[in-house]
This record gives sequence, structure tokens and C-alpha cells, in this order.
Amino acid sequence: MKFRVMKAPKPSHQGSSTNAPVLDALYQQGLSVSFHFPVHFTHGLFRLDNPVFVESVTRLEPDRRHRLFFIIDAGITSAQPDLLSDIERYLHHHDKRLQLAKPPVIVPGGESAKNDVKLIEELQGKLLAAAIDRQSFIVAIGGGAVIDLAGYLAATFHRGVRHIRIPTTVLSQNDSGVSVKNGVNAFGIKNLLGTFAPPFAVINDDELLRTLEPRDTRAGMAEAVKVSLVRDPGFFQWIEQNGHALATFEPDELAFLIRRCAELHMQHIARCGDPFELASARPLDFGHWAAHKLENLTQYRLRHGEAVAIGLALDTRYSFEAGLLDACDCERVVGLLELLGFRLWHPQMGTRDSEGQLLLLDGLREFHEHLGGEFSVTLLSAIGSMLEVHEMDHDRILTVCRWLQARDRDRT
Ligand SMILES: NC(=O)c1ccc[n+]([C@@H]2O[C@H](COP(=O)([O-])OP(=O)(O)OC[C@H]3O[C@@H](n4cnc5c(N)ncnc54)[C@H](O)[C@@H]3O)[C@@H](O)[C@H]2O)c1
Ligand SMILES: [Zn+2]
Repeated sequence: MKFRVMKAPKPSHQGSSTNAPVLDALYQQGLSVSFHFPVHFTHGLFRLDNPVFVESVTRLEPDRRHRLFFIIDAGITSAQPDLLSDIERYLHHHDKRLQLAKPPVIVPGGESAKNDVKLIEELQGKLLAAAIDRQSFIVAIGGGAVIDLAGYLAATFHRGVRHIRIPTTVLSQNDSGVSVKNGVNAFGIKNLLGTFAPPFAVINDDELLRTLEPRDTRAGMAEAVKVSLVRDPGFFQWIEQNGHALATFEPDELAFLIRRCAELHMQHIARCGDPFELASARPLDFGHWAAHKLENLTQYRLRHGEAVAIGLALDTRYSFEAGLLDACDCERVVGLLELLGFRLWHPQMGTRDSEGQLLLLDGLREFHEHLGGEFSVTLLSAIGSMLEVHEMDHDRILTVCRWLQARDRDRT
């Protein structure tokens, strides 16, 4: 970390006969903090001979004993009941360097983890009782929702506790796990409370994915399509060419998709010049204004990735309708999402408020309120090429929703 305080030039009052306020600051402070964290891909994380976990935890102080507080998604502990005993055995094996601060806490998986204020308070109480300090670790094992929750707790408890992410869904391994954000939902608004806080380490274990429901394997692929569309047309082509294998969850193809998608997200965050999203444009949120609204309208019955697939189809078709994208590219995107097994329309897309306005359209305002600054939505001009627009036409969105509905009807 570099730290610099520079004395600013003294303001000159010469020639000023009034007592007008002076804008010059006495000091210009400069802070620059750099973050580095490893992202591991491994197999059998808690096997005794696998060094990844112990090395990740102890990488800064290899000779010290480190205290760990595990928060684990109930979805994975019920699907993989041996996980808890594997962790216990692993920690026992490495007990000179690793120590449980308290027995692991199991929390409900899925969006309910982010919606429950009582759960947050309960976990904060447990962290306090376990005397978790800034050099202790909160280790989160679970889907994106549990990881977002644990990351939020870690970032805010004592203003920042070390946080290790062990994502257990495709989406959390290829997108949210490598991100620098966390958050919980509040007042009915998704991710209203949260921080930008890079993790201490991320560990992706493909073995943890073997018990996922098909919809949770598929959901993560939507984020891969998204990032390919805005960052890497070659990757889009690869997904197209391997679409059938991905649709049947072939392990090698799935592993490649996860790794490439994670890499592209990491590269974007590291190189975009705006890792903490201070600007209004957010290309990685392509398709997300509608996705977030749909998650909310369906009371989170749609998975984030399923809603993203619809949002991608909507904004892609919108790009075509607006004359920005050609018909062939539009068909390739929509066709690929269908090939992967996504449904691209949901009845909630047609729900209206008492004044007859589509509720989905509120997603535009909410998206803008979340980001601030100038309203900005990412659209496509070609596969792998995007542009920002600053308004969206409501009638055109309606036309696109009708088109998606008709297409869905023809397919089902
Ligand atoms: N922080 C970020 O940058 C970021 C980015 C994208 C998405 N997200 C968030 O991630 C969340 C979505 O995450 P998700 O798609 O991983 O879904 P999820 O966390 O909702 O999990 C889906 C279901 O899978 C279960 N599960 C998890 N791992 C399992 C396993 N290995 N075997 C069996 N069941 C398992 C969970 O219990 C849950 O029921 C959303 O809240 C979204 O907002 C955050
Ligand atoms: Zn997303």
C-alpha cells in the first residue's frame, strides 16, 4: 500500500476583497491500495494430501496457527454429507496451522440466505462469540448467494475479516466467486447492502459441482455466454461449437467453460480501470437490468443465471430491433441460449401495475438507482462488440417481450 499526503499550494486571496469561500483544499491526500488474491482450480480440496486449502490460508504467515470460521450452504451439506467430516479430518491433519474457531455454521442455501436480516444478526452474534478478529478467516462454502452473504459479513465485521471463497455452483465458480463484490438484499431490493471487498483467496473444486441440480449447472452458463458476448467472440464461438456437450453437462467442456469464464471476469476486473465500479457503464452487467427485476418479480423462483439468460435474450433482440445488431448475430445468441436449455420468457414479463405499465420496466429505474450517474445500459453491435446507450424505448421493450413470448410458445 502506498500512502502519500501532499501539501496543496496555499490559496491566494490577493485581489479578493470579499469573504467568498475558497475551494482549494489544504491537503490533497493520495491513497493507492493494491489487492492480490490467488484463484485456485483443484480437485478434492479436503483430501489430506491436497495442499491448496492449507497453503491458501497460511500464505502470509506460514508458521502461525490460523483461526477459521466456516459458513456452509445447507444445499451442499445435504447433497454431500461427507463434506463436514472431510473438513474436520483435514483440519485435524493440519492442526499446527489451522484451527476451527467454532463448529461450522450451516445456513440455508439460495437467495433466502441474502433476504434474511435475522440470519445476518445471528451470524454476527456467532462471529462475536467466536472472537473472530481481522486476522481470522471466514471461509464460505456454497453457492453465490451464501458467498455473497458471508462476504458481506466478512467485509463489515471489525471492518474487514479475511475471507476465503469456496464456490460450489457453476455460476459462483465462473463469475461471482472471482468478483470483488458481496451483498445482501434489503427493503425488497437486491444487493442493496454490500461492499466492494476482494477475497483473500478463491478455491474452485470441480468435485463440489457433481451434486448440483441440472438447473444450477445450466444457470452458470448464462454468465459465460454474457461475458463471451461483451469480451471474447472466440469464446462465444467455442460455446456454440460445444453447445450440445454443454447442454448435457459433459465434464470436460463444462470445466473449460467455467475456467475461461472466470478468467474473462478476472481480466475485466483487473484491467477495466474501474474495479469498484465508480463509473456508470458496466459491461459485465449486460442483460442484468431485466434479470434483477425478474428475480425479484418471481420472488427468486428464477435462479440468477436463468434470469440472466432471459435478460441477455431481451437486450440482444432489443439491439436488433434498434438497428444496432444484425439478424444473424441476434439469432445466434438467442439460438445458443435455447440450445443450452434456457427458457427465454417468463409469465412475470407480462405483469402490469394498476396503471397498466409493465412491472419489468421498473427494472430500468432500479438499475439506474443502483449505479447512479448517467443512465447507461450495455447493448450489442456484434458478437463480441458492445456499446452503451443512455435510454431504452419502452415500446420496443414491449415488442421484444412479445417476440420472446411467441418464440417460447412455439418451442413448448
Ligand atoms: N458478488 C457478485 O459479483 C455476484 C455475481 C453474480 C451473481 N451473484 C449472486 O449469486 C447468487 C446466485 O448464485 P448461484 O447461482 O450460485 O445460486 P445459489 O447460491 O442461489 O444456489 C442455488 C442452489 O444450489 C444449492 N447448492 C449450492 N451448491 C450445491 C452443490 N454443490 N450441490 C447441490 N446443491 C448446491 C444451494 O443450496 C441453492 O439451493 C445471486 O444472489 C446473485 O445475485 C453475485
Ligand atoms: Zn450476474
